[in-house]
Amino acid sequence: MAVFVIEGGRPLRGVVRVSGRKNAAVAVLPAALLAEGPSTIENIPDIGDVATALDLLRAQGASVEVPAPGTVRIDPTGLRDREPPAELAGQMRASYYLLGVLLARFRRAVVPLPGGCDIGRRPIDQHLKGLAALGARLEIADGRVRAEARRLQGASIYLDVVSVGATINLMLAAATAEGTTVIENAAKEPHIVDVANFLNAMGAHVSGAGTDVIKVRGVKRLHGAEHAIIPDEIEAATYMFAAAGTLGDVLVENVIPRHLEPISAKLREAGVEVVENGEWVRVVATERPRAVRIKTLPYPGFPTDAQQPATALWSIGRGTTLVTESIWEDRFRHVPELLRMGARIEVRDRTLVVEGVPRLRGVPVTATDLRSGAALVIAGLLAEGVTTVSRVELVDRGYEAMEAKLAALGAVIRRQPSA
Ligand code: EPU
Repeated sequence: MAVFVIEGGRPLRGVVRVSGRKNAAVAVLPAALLAEGPSTIENIPDIGDVATALDLLRAQGASVEVPAPGTVRIDPTGLRDREPPAELAGQMRASYYLLGVLLARFRRAVVPLPGGCDIGRRPIDQHLKGLAALGARLEIADGRVRAEARRLQGASIYLDVVSVGATINLMLAAATAEGTTVIENAAKEPHIVDVANFLNAMGAHVSGAGTDVIKVRGVKRLHGAEHAIIPDEIEAATYMFAAAGTLGDVLVENVIPRHLEPISAKLREAGVEVVENGEWVRVVATERPRAVRIKTLPYPGFPTDAQQPATALWSIGRGTTLVTESIWEDRFRHVPELLRMGARIEVRDRTLVVEGVPRLRGVPVTATDLRSGAALVIAGLLAEGVTTVSRVELVDRGYEAMEAKLAALGAVIRRQPSA
């Protein structure tokens, strides 16, 4: 167990390089198991959830090599029809992708119910509904999903809620099904497009990814392919908020500025200068951010995964900011910690009423989930005095070398074992 010790109040300045997107990587890695030969995937972030995903692949009999930092080669030739270990599957949400993948490969799968961040109820009924439409018989018992299908047959599936996980899982299962699958009310996140691009590079026929209707024409087999993961827009957003809140000047590189539009637009609305050019965005702030209204929505709306970091920034805003969380029912666990740092936030149902204060003060705080941890690091950078953030292994699940990247921008932050 480790903590971050942060001496706040230093403006961040310089260049920070964003890593590959967590939520794309944790889908592309299991997707590689669909192929008959090896795939090479680049821009893989060095984070806890990727380590867990790779352990899950190995546990299924795939061979995983790391020929260079950030590159993995996955050979699924030794893949076995076996149940993933519950202790690994329980560590991350994305273990649900093994359901689609193993069902496609073996026509049967027994997968422990997925774990992941503690942010309220996280049902998988849409995954199950879609897989059933493709011909699977499903049963949940003893903390596992059991799925079996004589064959997978393309179908028309309308998702009742826009779900990133269900959209990807159904693309994975449909890629080698017989006939054509149509997924309506599909999620449109850029990582859906990234997974579709990888599947197509493997020989699949996926069209419409990035819109709300995705068509998958099943093919008999897939071959290995090469692919590079898109940049992590939430990691980028985290550094953009930290730059804005410390009245800094930071160039965030290796990003796709268009994917950051919901973040950049909010910062501009708050009076922060955001300049973009090709593969970078530069954030320059000279005053505390003006109050804004934020509502989380599926892409291209404001991302829920940036909601907690945004709350930290606007806790020192000028005026009262409203933050509405419409995706997850309990993603406000960072609020009590921010209150201890002097923030003025009231929780009204799914909305936070954030009355900006001139400054936060450093105290010991505890991360409760990945993005609350990121929010508390931002708060620590903005605060006067010393903030200690405990349970940083939750932050490590989704951020590569966060303290090193921040220290290179002039932050005073160090990792130390917890007492
Ligand atoms: N939902 C259902 N039924 C389902 C699936 C989802 O009702 O079968 C609901 C959920 O309860 C939620 C909404 O639909 O209200 C959206 O859930 P979605 O399925 O899109 O989320 P997810 O696939 O479980 C991924 C990310 C999350 C991110 C969400 C939304 C991964 C591994 N996780 O989760 O990332 O918040 O999409 O963008 O891709 C994070 O990175 O911190 C994180 C939590």
